[in-house]
Order: sequence, then structure tokens, then C-alpha cells
Amino acid sequence: AASDPDLVERARAAKAALGERLFVLGHHYQRDEVIQFADVTGDSFKLARDAAGRPDAEFIVFCGVHFMAESADILTSPTQRVILPDLAAGCSMADMARLRQVEDAWDAMADAGIQDSVVPVTYMNSSADIKAFCGRNGGVVCTSSNADVALEWAFEQKADLADGAKILFLPDQHLGRNTAVLKMGMELDECVVWDPRQPGGGLSADELQRARMILWKGHCSVHGRFTADVVDELRDKHPGINILVHPECTHDVVLKADLVGSTEFIIKTIEAAPPGTVWAIGTELNLVQRLADAHPDKTIVFLDRNVCYCSTMNRIDLPHLVWALESLVAGTVVNQITVDPETEADALVALQRMLDLPG
Ligand code: 13P
Ligand code: SF4
Repeated sequence: AASDPDLVERARAAKAALGERLFVLGHHYQRDEVIQFADVTGDSFKLARDAAGRPDAEFIVFCGVHFMAESADILTSPTQRVILPDLAAGCSMADMARLRQVEDAWDAMADAGIQDSVVPVTYMNSSADIKAFCGRNGGVVCTSSNADVALEWAFEQKADLADGAKILFLPDQHLGRNTAVLKMGMELDECVVWDPRQPGGGLSADELQRARMILWKGHCSVHGRFTADVVDELRDKHPGINILVHPECTHDVVLKADLVGSTEFIIKTIEAAPPGTVWAIGTELNLVQRLADAHPDKTIVFLDRNVCYCSTMNRIDLPHLVWALESLVAGTVVNQITVDPETEADALVALQRMLDLPG
């Protein structure tokens, strides 16, 4: 749908009034009406780097979800203010790992005698206090662009152990499993799932001893919906179709896909694809629709029978963006995201380890 012209004009005027004091970041899953005002767009890795790269901007308006705004606050200087236009823009996956639950799991691993061999790795899609937990305990943050490099780094940290390291991967079991099996060549049965609702994660001492990947029982409610039978259906319907999916999809969907990668990878792949090719994309619908609109010479379809947006990403709409920007023009900072200094210091350790990874 076309954006309200009055709101478009107001957003434009507010941006012009704020000039260089303002930097607007937009995640690829944002609505078109919002993305048109982003100074940069990107996946969560690129946006984290971009936020850190603008020390002169007084206000960082983050069009994305809460954990991304927290990461931007951690990576920018204390005088810079990070604003999330709607505070209800959370992430159901990030909410699946709470600090208390992770600390309980960590204590249980100590009781099981394995904690010294475990390196915690958290996906960017987690709260700042989970990143801080990783920073305090020798771990690292990763994104869907660098999960394999982060896992290699984590295994190297314990290379001197006779039985090798184990990874506690938070909070997305699918990204963890897909990376371990498809990128690192691990066996499926070397991955176990830690269920925080079960005593001892629901795992026996023997299962814990044998595991190399302990996957937290979390998932993305958007990517978890894609199914392998729709892949089969589309292959029947469009011979020669290419299936391109995000690694937050389930392992059986990823196994059936032709290409797997982060949102930046998905965009670059479609840009490089020859005219006339046919693609089904398994990621958030705002991005798939934008790619279909930008590439009319290719056939691009959504890998789901139903319309399915990320409801929390979609909470950032033009009215919220205009409100946040006009408030800044009027001298009021609304919806500022601040991480407390202690959490920030520990989370920065884990984020910096990620930014220092090779590649
Ligand atoms: P990336 O931006 O790392 O591809 O992650 C996708 C996602 O689900 C963000 O919320
Ligand atoms: Fe969270 Fe999934 Fe939405 Fe990303 S797409 S913000 S992981 S619920």
C-alpha cells in the first residue's frame, strides 16, 4: 500500500531539520514505508557495524527490533542516543532465552561436570543480558552471516582439551544445528536440544557428555513456519525453481533448499541471478515482496502458502517513525533504549569478539 503522503512529507521535513545529527538504520524486514527513510539498510550484522561507524550522529533511530537497538546502544558512545520508534517491537526468539534460565542451565552444566569445556555462543537475536553472559563466560556473539566463523573460534578456545569443546548455542536451535551440520560437517546426533522448561534441560548425563552442540530450545516464529512439503510442491509446479532460505528455517527445509544464507546473502543472490530465473524465498515477507518488486525480470515467490510478516518488525510503521522524528525536532527524546553500564561492558566483550572475527 502507498504511504500516507502527509506522513511522508512530515518524515522528510523532520529528517531534513535534524540533518547530520540523525542516523536512521533499517533492517531488511522493515515495511517499505519505513525503509524509504533509512540512511542505511542491512542485516543485523551490517547494521551493528554501521551503528558503530557513525560516532558523530547524536540520534540513532533504529527501525528494527529491541535487541538490535540494544546492540546499537552498546556499540555507540554514551553521548549518542538510540531510539526504537515502538517499544513493543520485540522478538519472540530473543524472549525464549531469559538470563535466569541460562544461568540455571550453566549451573546444571557445572553439576554435570562439563561446564569447563563449554563455550557459550549467542545469536545476535538475544537480549543484552544474554550477550553479557557470553562476554563474562568466554563466549561470543554471532549473526547468520558469521555463525560458522564464530563456531570455529569457539572450538579453538578449548583446543587443548582432550575431548574438545562443547558449544552452548543460544537461542536459535535451527541456526545452531544448520551451521554445525551443514557448515562444520558435524553429525546430527552430535547436536542435542536443551529445554529450559525441563530439569537438567531434559538431557541425560550421557547425552550431555557426548554432545558437541548444546542447542537452546528457541526458534523464530516466522522462519519456523516454512515446511519441506511446500518446497516439494513448488518444485513440481515450477521445474528449475531455486529455493533460497534463511538459516533460521528448520533443518529439513534447509536440507531441501538450494542456497542458504542471511538476509544480505539472499539479496545479493537475487541481484546476481540471471533474468528469467525462478526463485522461492524462505524469509520475512516484507523483504521477499521488495525483492519481487525490484526484480520484475525474475519470478520470485514466497515459500509459504500464507501471508506471514514478522509482527514485531511490522510494529515500526510510518506513524511511529514520524512521531519519534518530530519529537526529536521538538527537543524530546522518546523511546530511548539504554543498556545498564555493567551489562553493557560484558556484552561489549562478546560483541567485540564477534567484530574481531576473521572475514
Ligand atoms: P539477519 O538480519 O541476521 O539475517 O537475521 C534475520 C532476523 O531474523 C532478524 O530478526
Ligand atoms: Fe525475531 Fe524472527 Fe522476527 Fe527476526 S523475524 S525479529 S528472529 S521473530
